[in-house]
Amino acid sequence: MNNQTSGFSTIVARRDEFPSLKRAYRDLPLAYFDGPGGTQVPDSVISAVSDYYRSSNANAHGAFITSHETDAVVDRARQKVAEFIGAEGPQNISFGANMTSLNFSLSRAIGRWLDEGDEILITQLDHEANRAPWLALREQGIIVREVRILENATLDYNDLENKINENTRLVAVGYSSNVSGTVNEIKRIRGLTYEAEALLLVDAVHFAPHFPLDVRSLGIDFLLCSAYKFYGPHVGILYSKGELLNRIPTYFLRTQEAHAPCRIETGTLNFAALNGVSAAIDFIASFDPAPDSSHRPQRAMQQIARYEETLARRIYEGLQAIRGVNTIGPDFNAGLRAPTISFTLENADPRIVCEELNQKAILAWNGHFYGIRAVETLGLLERGGLTRVGVSLYNTEEEVDRLLTAVKEIAARHC
Ligand SMILES: Cc1ncc(COP(=O)(O)O)c(C=O)c1O
Repeated sequence: MNNQTSGFSTIVARRDEFPSLKRAYRDLPLAYFDGPGGTQVPDSVISAVSDYYRSSNANAHGAFITSHETDAVVDRARQKVAEFIGAEGPQNISFGANMTSLNFSLSRAIGRWLDEGDEILITQLDHEANRAPWLALREQGIIVREVRILENATLDYNDLENKINENTRLVAVGYSSNVSGTVNEIKRIRGLTYEAEALLLVDAVHFAPHFPLDVRSLGIDFLLCSAYKFYGPHVGILYSKGELLNRIPTYFLRTQEAHAPCRIETGTLNFAALNGVSAAIDFIASFDPAPDSSHRPQRAMQQIARYEETLARRIYEGLQAIRGVNTIGPDFNAGLRAPTISFTLENADPRIVCEELNQKAILAWNGHFYGIRAVETLGLLERGGLTRVGVSLYNTEEEVDRLLTAVKEIAARHC
């Protein structure tokens, strides 16, 4: 066994830590390929959430012990997330109910900052959560342009270069598509935004669960992600570079802290869930294969990415060998790609495909996954969108083979 495969068997052994993986349906163990919609959660995260309610359940900023503990929970979560994404520090990390709500709060604030005729660039590939908040600014005379996608669900970079100009104030782009697994060339886009002196906002909701992140080396201005996609509870995360958030006129209460990172956090945070976010990042960091050092989330993510890629390639190649199956998105050999594979099956509605997979205890999503513009542009909306299977660190080769056998049987019935 070489180092890599022994690392992989260590990953598989950690399945025991996920109680939901022990569930069965129709006498078959559930195989969770629905990760892009939200991953399963390990025991340590579940305990962290319930421990908070058992011991430190109080509002923040009080003069008493349980309130001090709540403050510590929030501070720790900011610190952990900062380490996870390579941010300057906890002051750059804000929390919210989910990514969508945070992005709306941010777009409303940035809208107050902009003038009529200023431009924002979004893409056809993005989730609605990174389109609607910016499209809403059209109401106040902001021009919102859209970067086209090509047939293989990658961005048309020529179109991007043509549409970015001296009036562009912000480019809002996903790091990876939750529809096609496409990973966008953020370095290249950053270069273009520097030339235009525009801000760069990156939706990393689909990237963060699969690859190491380093916001500082990329020079990203704003980055959003969501902990329920990486083994944590439902919490939205916003990174703002340096002092940027302090310069943006966010809406907040007179009674609230008026500086970063709090100035975009309206109302009481979900403290129990934040305790779970710290536990989720500790869980991820514990996959760091270096035995002699403190666990580092970035190194752990590299190991997880390698494991997920082997399974995703097996799915991709297996699906391509089935008659009637068409996979969407860039080829695995064309560069970095998320382990999320969407496909259509000739003559079969994606909803029916997922219902038939469910009969075999295989969980997968159908439809547009809120990446509706991409699915529409690819001409797939009317026919019910796509079937999507996503690999998470708890999936196994055996589950992949079950999936491929099931799709083969479904294809034989429909095609
Ligand atoms: C790529 C991407 N962006 C944004 C979102 C929205 O995240 P949230 O559910 O935290 O609002 C999702 C959720 O599926 C997503 O996959």
